[in-house]
Amino acid sequence: MSKTVLVTGGAGFIGSNYCRYVLKNRPDYRVVALDALTYAGNLSTIADMQRNPETASRFAFYPGKIQDETVVNGIIEAEKIDYIINFAAESHNDRSILEPGSFIQTDVYGVFTLLDATKRHGIERMLHVSTDEVYGTIDEGQFTEHSPIEPNTPYSASKAGGEMQARAHRVTYGTPTIVTRCGNNFGEFQYPEKLIPFFVTRLIQNKKVPLYGTGLQVRDWVYVMDHCSGIDFALHHGELGEAYNVGTDGECTNREMVDRLLKLLDKPESLVKQIEDPRGGAHDKRYSINSDKLKGMGWKPAYPFEAALESTVKWYLENEDWWREIIAKPDYQDFVARFYGKYLGEDL
Ligand code: NAD
Ligand code: DAU
Repeated sequence: MSKTVLVTGGAGFIGSNYCRYVLKNRPDYRVVALDALTYAGNLSTIADMQRNPETASRFAFYPGKIQDETVVNGIIEAEKIDYIINFAAESHNDRSILEPGSFIQTDVYGVFTLLDATKRHGIERMLHVSTDEVYGTIDEGQFTEHSPIEPNTPYSASKAGGEMQARAHRVTYGTPTIVTRCGNNFGEFQYPEKLIPFFVTRLIQNKKVPLYGTGLQVRDWVYVMDHCSGIDFALHHGELGEAYNVGTDGECTNREMVDRLLKLLDKPESLVKQIEDPRGGAHDKRYSINSDKLKGMGWKPAYPFEAALESTVKWYLENEDWWREIIAKPDYQDFVARFYGKYLGEDL
């Protein structure tokens, strides 16, 4: 049956890939993207969907903030929205350490605005995209949906705050919410500040890459299109009020990840610079997600990790125009200088 989905954060990394996923896999759906176009949101990230005649007629874009209720209510009425999927967020831990305020505005208050709009307009389902970071860190075993919520950075605490708003809205007002929690994503169109795209774009330029501390922290990597299929599955088959982990058993240490990137790009070990850990005690040691709940309902990831990583690196090699436009911007250079200056010195 035909539906119209509002994808907030649709000009960012995962949101734009989710728009692509829906346009490809649900030919009778319309996609409406809303995005504030912060430093992380770029019109060049959605240009392919706007240009392609096969998708352009089913895709609309609105600039605006999720915490602006006039904008949100206006879009819901004008576009007759059936589902809301919320990707909009301040999403980078390192930035949250420098400037936590905007994280609370978007990741907590913004979620509340969407929940209120969901209730007011009788939206069928609102899926809030959360993160495994709300669980904090785990030395052994895996995070299940029943693990305690123990966030450690301003980013993860804000994400936990957004989730708690969703939970309370469901319990108090019966708002039709679903939450998903995923691990570290990688893939096409990822803004070059997170480990993989930051390192890949620097290695292509023969610049040194800053490995935090020992590099022995473990992340549970997920290819972005598997995350998108997990979200889509939870949206259509999930139970209202439930949370679902989305993971693909992609655990590896940062050191192992860097070695893979060096090999894929044929770059020397001398480009890795181990630096004092800028996250200090807030640096989570290990993430590991158990997704048996979603898999038990029939969801299956489709992308083997090594092949997806290789094709992601290839994408950055073949799409230099996309990321070079971003890294040339003053706000990008300012962040890199402010955050990494004291650690990288002349290697900046
Ligand atoms: P991103 O930073 O690439 O994109 C976020 C998008 O949200 C940007 O386009 C930005 O312009 C937009 N945005 C920011 N504030 C906004 C506001 N107030 N109103 C409207 N739009 C706003 O982030 P991402 O990596 O694509 O993450 C998307 C979502 O997935 C986030 O909620 C994040 O917490 C969650 N998540 C990310 C990962 C990951 O590894 N990247 C993993 C699990 C969950
Ligand atoms: O687990 C899900 C989360 O994954 C998402 O909710 C976040 O939005 C996303 O940013 C990501 O958080 P991390 O903090 O784990 O991702 P990041 O890529 O910033 O860092 C991954 C690991 O690499 C982490 O242990 C820190 C390390 N690192 C990161 C950068 C940017 C480095 O060693 N050097 C770096 O320059």
